[in-house]
Amino acid sequence: MSTRGVVVVSGASRGIGREVATTLAADGWTVLAGARDPATLEGVDGVEPVQLDVTDGASVRAVAARASEFGGATALVNNAGIIGENVRGPVLEQDLQEVRRVFETNVLGAWALLQALTRQLRAAGPRGRVVNVSSGMGQLSDAQSGAGAYRVSKVALNMLTVTAANELRADGVLVNATCPGWVQTDMGGPQAQRTVAEGAASVLWGVRLPDDGPTGGFFRDGEPLPW
Ligand SMILES: NC(=O)c1ccc[n+]([C@@H]2O[C@H](COP(=O)([O-])OP(=O)(O)OC[C@H]3O[C@@H](n4cnc5c(N)ncnc54)[C@H](OP(=O)(O)O)[C@@H]3O)[C@@H](O)[C@H]2O)c1
Repeated sequence: MSTRGVVVVSGASRGIGREVATTLAADGWTVLAGARDPATLEGVDGVEPVQLDVTDGASVRAVAARASEFGGATALVNNAGIIGENVRGPVLEQDLQEVRRVFETNVLGAWALLQALTRQLRAAGPRGRVVNVSSGMGQLSDAQSGAGAYRVSKVALNMLTVTAANELRADGVLVNATCPGWVQTDMGGPQAQRTVAEGAASVLWGVRLPDDGPTGGFFRDGEPLPW
């Protein structure tokens, strides 16, 4: 059994999630690396690949059951996310079917994993950590036009963060939203400012918080971000 704890990472097939999963494994965590296609994690050292589609309840429940076999999740990184197809343009013209798909992944997917692991996280008590990977594009104080499905989904994820943090406060579990910045992944594109490692650092910060660290906040690079 790992000394650091057991962490579930969604969207670990590539990008920020993969970096977070491999870094935590190297740090001595037991990492359940969730991927829609776990074959993408074949040969990745130190992680336990698990099939995870956050929009599929059975898949989410199976990951929670697998985490129990390892003694229960002490941390959850809700990283899986999508921008959506053809929903980067004006919010007034977006196809609501696709908006719904973005919400299913970015909001309800994170919500479902959190619910499935609540009992385990409560049992972890003050060791418990939840990091919801959000985005500055969900900042109400910096609202712009376009990419409405993504922006609105991240605002919802932020409110999920605050409400869940309040509900888990008495257990000592720390729940925060973090923005990785603009990162060179399939989502961010090659012109993005940050390397994957630089973006993942903001997420890892939330997992590595000391027991008396903040909860219910929104951060980038360990610094508070305005909502
Ligand atoms: N890149 C940026 O500039 C940036 C900026 C701010 C916030 N973020 C946030 O950072 C997180 C990671 O993004 P990224 O840049 O690493 O993107 P990415 O390279 O496109 O990776 C997205 C990950 O999410 C997974 N995923 C998508 N739908 C899923 C589902 N239904 N179930 C499980 N996994 C699913 C993908 O799995 P598959 O391989 O199976 O598709 C992939 O592992 C996202 O929440 C994103 O919103 C990114």
